[in-house]
Amino acid sequence: MEFIDEDLQHYAEAHTSPESELLHKVNRQTHLNVMKPRMLSGHMQGRLLAMFSHMIKPKQILEVGTYTGYSALCLAEGLQQGGTLYTIDKNEELEDRVRGYFAEAGFSESIKYYIGNALDIIPNINAEFDLVFIDADKINNANYYDLVIDRLATGGYIIVDNVLWSGKVLEKYRKKLDEDTAALLAFNQKVQEDDRVENVLLPVRDGLMIARKK
Ligand SMILES: C[S@@+](CC[C@H](N)C(=O)[O-])C[C@H]1O[C@@H](n2cnc3c(N)ncnc32)[C@H](O)[C@@H]1O
Repeated sequence: MEFIDEDLQHYAEAHTSPESELLHKVNRQTHLNVMKPRMLSGHMQGRLLAMFSHMIKPKQILEVGTYTGYSALCLAEGLQQGGTLYTIDKNEELEDRVRGYFAEAGFSESIKYYIGNALDIIPNINAEFDLVFIDADKINNANYYDLVIDRLATGGYIIVDNVLWSGKVLEKYRKKLDEDTAALLAFNQKVQEDDRVENVLLPVRDGLMIARKK
């Protein structure tokens, strides 16, 4: 489901800085060679993530859900000198492709890439995060949130993708309440009621929940 008029979306993209050559390549190769390319953040959201990262200037970033590395490359743009981005994905088939892109970007040192279940890996990463991007299996959003909230610096941010779930958070846009939609509804409510954060649900693309730890 598109939330804004297609022509307006094109106009907005035409007035947004373009993707780098490498990001354009990652985007194109993902669409040509990888299953479910719609999962990739893409031009507009990628530039927004890079912009947030530049604004926050994080020393340590955690990403849950690497996929082909597009959003990791965008988020890494704003890392402080000597900073680290930790990114996790359970899909080992993408490993060579992703490591290749990180090397091409010159991020082999600053991006630490883990293959496996994020629920097992997050507790073993010894870092305090300034920025966390959650974009994996939606059913576990609340579990990821609970795992990272105490590891987030005061004033740090958690960004969670797809929180509007193609509009299915509203009854009028869904046929039935499936498991993922129920999990997203519960997650959005959980963040809304969490006194530890202030939050904005930004209706960009499929919806980004942005929470700042007080
Ligand atoms: C929407 S894609 C990530 C897209 C990427 N962040 C981007 O914007 O380009 C979701 C990814 O989460 C991964 N994933 C799903 N469940 C996971 C889990 N429990 N642990 C680690 N990765 C998981 C999938 O393999 C998939 O590659």
